[in-house]
Amino acid sequence: MRTIMTLNQKGGCGKSTIATNLASYFATHGKSVAVVDLDPQGCCIEWLKARPEDRPTIHGVVGWKGDPKIPKDVDVVIYDAPAGAHGKDLTAMLRKVQSAIIPVMPSPIDMRACAHFIQDILTVGRVSRDEVKLAVVANRVRENTLVYQHLEHFLKALDIPFIATLRDTQNYIRAVERGLGIFEMAPSAVEQDLEQWQSLTRWVNGKRSMPA
Ligand SMILES: Nc1ncnc2c1ncn2[C@@H]1O[C@H](COP(=O)(O)OP(=O)(O)OP(=O)(O)O)[C@@H](O)[C@H]1O
Ligand SMILES: [Mg+2]
Repeated sequence: MRTIMTLNQKGGCGKSTIATNLASYFATHGKSVAVVDLDPQGCCIEWLKARPEDRPTIHGVVGWKGDPKIPKDVDVVIYDAPAGAHGKDLTAMLRKVQSAIIPVMPSPIDMRACAHFIQDILTVGRVSRDEVKLAVVANRVRENTLVYQHLEHFLKALDIPFIATLRDTQNYIRAVERGLGIFEMAPSAVEQDLEQWQSLTRWVNGKRSMPA
């Protein structure tokens, strides 16, 4: 079973957006998918309520009330972590997964917080890089802005794979409202976004995202 988590202590950086779109990606590629919503806000569960019946089924699992009941026969489980998770809770969550994706937005405060967060996971949390493969995604990016150049530079300097840059676009908002991912939208509208996701899905499907 493939297990992936989206996380960052910082709120609103795109954890749920990446979780729902990853779920949509796998579901539209023939996989049986469950999303475990670890956040009492229940964004992923709400997203699934809006999902049209004619789309590939994605199982929604409430994960914020004790041990989540994950269907046995799923191929992929995506965990969407809440903002603010840290310490023992975070470590316990992270140990459940093979890969973890950390979205970060291009602001100096967010970048600094992200660096601390990653350091915390690796040192205080003692999550070993062999145990859980971490990667960073730049989210809500407006290219050609100075702050983006800083972000790119900062992410490359972290010793964590920087696997994708996702632009700031209403497409994600339109998709979430309809219970879909960008993989299920009219291709002409999301061409650039599909292209940006290629490096993310390449990492997720490749050996580098799997513990040895
Ligand atoms: N690339 C993007 N372009 C435009 N809007 C985006 C993008 N990524 C996320 N958003 C929007 O930003 C808001 C926050 O995103 P999201 O809910 O994914 O963040 P989060 O990290 O899960 O937040 P929380 O910490 O509250 O769980 C949402 O309204 C989402 O639709
Ligand atoms: Mg969220």
